[in-house]
Amino acid sequence: MPKKKSRPQKRRRRSIIAFEMVRLNRTAKEPLHEQLYRQIRDELKAGRFSDGSSRLPSSRALAVDRGISRSTVRLALSKLHAEGYLRSKPGSGTFVATLLPESFLTADQPKGYQPIQRPARISDRAKAIPDRRVGSQFDLGATGAGPGVSLVASIPAVDEFPIAIWERLRAQVLTKKGVNLLRYSSNRGDIDLRKAFAAYLCDFRAARCHPDQIVIVAGMQQAMLISAMAVLNPGETAWIEDPCYQQTRRVLTLAGVKIIPKPIDEHGIVIARSRQEPLPRMIYVTPSHQFPLGVTMSFQRRTELLDFASAHNTFIFEDDYDAEFRFVGPPLPSLQGIDNANRVIYAGTVSKILCPSLRLGYIVAPEQLVDSFVKIRSAMDQHSSPTEQATLARFITEGFFLSHIKRMRKLYAERRDFFIKQFNELLGDHFTLQVPEAGLNIVAWLKREEDFQMIKRITSEIGVRPSALSFFCIQAKLKPAFVFGFAAWTLTQIRQSLVKLASALRNYPRDLNHGRQSR
Ligand SMILES: Cc1ncc(COP(=O)(O)O)c(C=O)c1O
Repeated sequence: MPKKKSRPQKRRRRSIIAFEMVRLNRTAKEPLHEQLYRQIRDELKAGRFSDGSSRLPSSRALAVDRGISRSTVRLALSKLHAEGYLRSKPGSGTFVATLLPESFLTADQPKGYQPIQRPARISDRAKAIPDRRVGSQFDLGATGAGPGVSLVASIPAVDEFPIAIWERLRAQVLTKKGVNLLRYSSNRGDIDLRKAFAAYLCDFRAARCHPDQIVIVAGMQQAMLISAMAVLNPGETAWIEDPCYQQTRRVLTLAGVKIIPKPIDEHGIVIARSRQEPLPRMIYVTPSHQFPLGVTMSFQRRTELLDFASAHNTFIFEDDYDAEFRFVGPPLPSLQGIDNANRVIYAGTVSKILCPSLRLGYIVAPEQLVDSFVKIRSAMDQHSSPTEQATLARFITEGFFLSHIKRMRKLYAERRDFFIKQFNELLGDHFTLQVPEAGLNIVAWLKREEDFQMIKRITSEIGVRPSALSFFCIQAKLKPAFVFGFAAWTLTQIRQSLVKLASALRNYPRDLNHGRQSR
């Protein structure tokens, strides 16, 4: 059969879009080119012109038609081009893209999708992390200090953070370093920041370190996790203080470490151990002032601890989270500064000095551990934000860091004195304050143990929310007490909170007080 002669293909009609729907409002805040871009984009997204043959009018025609300048039209069209809504054909004009960008971005909803409800298998590691909270309670963050809640422990006065200075320095580093701040960066951390921290620690914390020993981390928790993962195998033992910073217990559990809680006496952590007790591979301490009891580790205990670590090839993790805020006498040198045997992993954070949301801190590692720390960090999340690190480096080198510490120490000293005086006047019948030399918290011991449940109930109801000391205890059986924070509240707020607590205690029906202690 003779082949059918193929007909010459008819030239497809190129319809020019009129864009009659475009309505531009000259008095609106939104610039005209943005309005034009948005309205054309929405029209294209609606799908009426996506057969690949719709041509756009020339920018001159569109400008004349809409009574706007050609540069306004060009701005709108170039954005549509850049996002993939339009394509140019040299010599023929501008056309609507055959496939709009949405088609590459939006996944199809699977039809007839029926989710199967089955409880997820959760790892033992996740289950082992001690925490009673569930679901959305985690969203309150570590402290649960929302608006209207006061005297929560460990909260710094973030409203004093010098936002304007920070923003200025941030803009400066972005201008100076530009795209270099947008790339993946050093796993050890910004070199300028490491130099700045090394200088600060040698000058003020009597540390002995150089910048190559410093690894910048996302706060103390990460410092602990990296250190534990580097020096302990799962199942090996770490000593921690009891009572202790609750995140230490959680983080070490996450690292698979066997925790042995050690009591605290008036010198700090108790080193004595029974023969059966396995030797620790790491000992976590807060020597500047113990969290939460506030004891400053004595010089004698410091040397005993270092000798123990050296004799048993153990590392000491020194958490120096808020040593800057001392109110009585000069600080003792850090353990790191008096360690001759490279046993101390020293770590600090800006959470108390500046604000916790920055998630920045540092580890000063014994030289032989640095590479392993960096390796673990690189496998974890690579590094902290280069922009925030560079900004902090400037903040320190230009003197703002030290000046902020001095200003905050003075402010906290004033708030602390006021808190102690008011507390003793208003609540002295119920509590005995144990005033520490440093820090943002004060422990208040109950005069009558049987009041514990009542006070716990009241504090949770009225939003004046110290933590029960028992919350931080693992095995320690201490007398009932509450840990109050004073740093984040003004004198007026402190007074109001204490008056509220005193009056709630006065008016609370005693017959509801069935005094058994619970956590
Ligand atoms: C003992 C101790 N270490 C460290 C921190 C802060 O840790 P991060 O740097 O993870 O915020 C706190 C906060 O309350 C603390 O109490």
